[in-house]
Amino acid sequence: MALKSKIIISVFLSLTYLSVIAQQKEVFYKVSENPLYKNSSIPTEQRIEDLLQRMTLEEKVLQMTQWTYGTNANENNIEDKMNEVRPEIGSLLYRSDSPKFRNQIQKKAMEDSRLGIPIIFAFDVIHGYRTIFPIPLAQACTWDTELVKRSCAVAAKESHSAGIDWTFSPMLDVARDLRWGRVAEAYGEDPYANSVFGVAAVQGYQGNSLADKYTIAACLKHYIGYSLSEGGRDYQYTDVSGQTLWETFMPPFEAGIKAGAATVMSGFNDITGTPATANYYTLTDVLKNQWKHDGFVVSDWESIENLIPQGVAKDRKEAAYKCVMAGLEMDMKSDVYLENLPLLVSEGKVPIETIDEAVRRILRLKFKLGLFDNPYVEELPDNERYLQPEFLELAENVAAETMVLLKNENSILPLNRMVKNIAVIGPMANDSLHIMGSWEGIGKSDDAETLLEGIQKEFGNKANINYAKGCDFDGLDSLGFAKARIAAEKSEIIILCIGEKRQWSGESGSRSNISLPAIQEELVAELSNLNKPIVLVISSGRPNELSRIHSKVDAIIEIWQPGLRGGSALAGILSGRTNPSAKLAITFPLTSGQQPMYYNRRQSSRPIYGQYRDVSKDPLYDFGHGLSFTEYKYGEIQLSDTIIDKSQTLIAEIEIENTGKFDGKETMLWFISDPVANISRPIKELKYFEKKSIKAGEKMVYSFEIVPERDLSYPDNTGKRHLEAGDFYLQVGNKKVKFELVD
Ligand code: GLC
Repeated sequence: MALKSKIIISVFLSLTYLSVIAQQKEVFYKVSENPLYKNSSIPTEQRIEDLLQRMTLEEKVLQMTQWTYGTNANENNIEDKMNEVRPEIGSLLYRSDSPKFRNQIQKKAMEDSRLGIPIIFAFDVIHGYRTIFPIPLAQACTWDTELVKRSCAVAAKESHSAGIDWTFSPMLDVARDLRWGRVAEAYGEDPYANSVFGVAAVQGYQGNSLADKYTIAACLKHYIGYSLSEGGRDYQYTDVSGQTLWETFMPPFEAGIKAGAATVMSGFNDITGTPATANYYTLTDVLKNQWKHDGFVVSDWESIENLIPQGVAKDRKEAAYKCVMAGLEMDMKSDVYLENLPLLVSEGKVPIETIDEAVRRILRLKFKLGLFDNPYVEELPDNERYLQPEFLELAENVAAETMVLLKNENSILPLNRMVKNIAVIGPMANDSLHIMGSWEGIGKSDDAETLLEGIQKEFGNKANINYAKGCDFDGLDSLGFAKARIAAEKSEIIILCIGEKRQWSGESGSRSNISLPAIQEELVAELSNLNKPIVLVISSGRPNELSRIHSKVDAIIEIWQPGLRGGSALAGILSGRTNPSAKLAITFPLTSGQQPMYYNRRQSSRPIYGQYRDVSKDPLYDFGHGLSFTEYKYGEIQLSDTIIDKSQTLIAEIEIENTGKFDGKETMLWFISDPVANISRPIKELKYFEKKSIKAGEKMVYSFEIVPERDLSYPDNTGKRHLEAGDFYLQVGNKKVKFELVD
């Protein structure tokens, strides 16, 4: 063929190829004026499918990617560079609190991208956003789900006004070892308590509809078994038996999913060898196939990439493959999906259907949040969005109900009105930073009232307040003890405020010893030599070891990390304005060496033997312990029957009388024991709780309806529930009754 002809043919073929490509791109890039997915009158699932079929593979994988935006103050996750945000990115972990700035970024997504898919802005709203509430462990000690729900609703309102659509909360990691700092972030050591408070948090964040103004999507974390981190060292291997998985860790997540939680976050841990982030059984078999969750799972910070150090992926590509095939939809921060999924799909290793299902779930939340139809937030000034008086009042009320009166020898509390000189001493007394705890949102220490300020406000015109810091939180410098002694010698009573710095608990806040630093214990010892009554106030993210100091003081109040209004809340208890009602949602051990120690443990095979020979077998304060200024007289438990079959319910009632001088609030914690079963059971398990106000001199009846299938059954290591006839015990307070379940 003549050269000339060849040239003509090749030019013709090239032009044809280019026109085909152009037409394809025309198909891809042609988005009709009003595509179906942008029509808010169309059902969400139709909008999703219409959008999905328009998306390129790269656009889909970008939706499965979360970047951080702004400086991330979480010192465990250093991220200070601002990624140049691609308008097609699925989500941003967003650390600015400017709605204007957030809208600017969202505008890029809506207008500079081909399909105009809104970004979902996320942030760790854990116990408040700008109005900081007590840490979740503290909130559990209120035994008041309404307070938890209301505090989450305030957090949702403040964060949404800043442009946040999605929080990484509630954390539902049932506490098992206090050396693990993150016990501060969940609702204590009981699965039922974590279930009930987790549901309250989801309801507080999500309200009645995710599309409602001021609601944000919840995220149940860290799915699952993370709190078993070996030795209490964070991010470690967790050996989670099927039995433990189903009786301890699954219940709060199942309850949260059934309550409509929008998303889940996988944990850093590997679940007995299979990382939570690549665990098909938990992520797909249980979460999606059994529980029918229609939302999505986001990895924890770079935990897809972490499969490499965990020894289950040789490289990022294998990590991407294992996680996406297990059912992990969104990659937080590591870009492993962005870099590898297109290749894995083109190689035929990852079916496009897998990608589509992941993107479908992500788009579903964006539609549910109303982001396609209302992508922007109001740009109101800070003073209209944050720290509203009613928010701060709630913060104080919640704090007051979290503070546990552990000891009150000779009823030195509430302070006698005749007291005219009060010493307020200790490193926590005038602190406004650590008192907020970890994960303090965008809380500012300038907004936090110190314990000293609260006490001065409460007693200022009635007593002289003599303050001395005494010492730092740690270190060896005891030079401040002299001034502390002087302040104490001028006073009739000492309020001694000690505790933890906020990063001593929370993420990566692992400690081999849960005592407070020696310098703080020395300050207690020094002041106890003055023979003046001491009220020990502890602010911490976990129960601390008090074995050397608890006997040196007359009263002990665990105030946890109370947030912005702990000062007034504590002062109200000291003055008697508030009658303390909190009860421990976590066991308070005597020594660090007793860890792990929790109330719902198995009975030993030789109960009398085998205990520690160097310390008591008992904790310092039990789960459920908490004193009041008043006295309650417990009647006997009344049962509607003593024998029931599996189809019947059993009504239990108990009458409580407030025989003291103070009005109060009393919580009934109802426990069930099943002493003989085919799979051994914990010595007792919390099955219901209720808190009621009882005025001085009044009586109140509390009741609990026992439903056998719900309250007397137990799961095996596959989650299958078993209900076995036999004797059961019901316990509330120190009252205990027996009943029988027959076939
Ligand atoms: C973390 C935490 C997780 C948090 C996430 C985003 O490392 O484990 O709880 O939500 O990063 O900040």
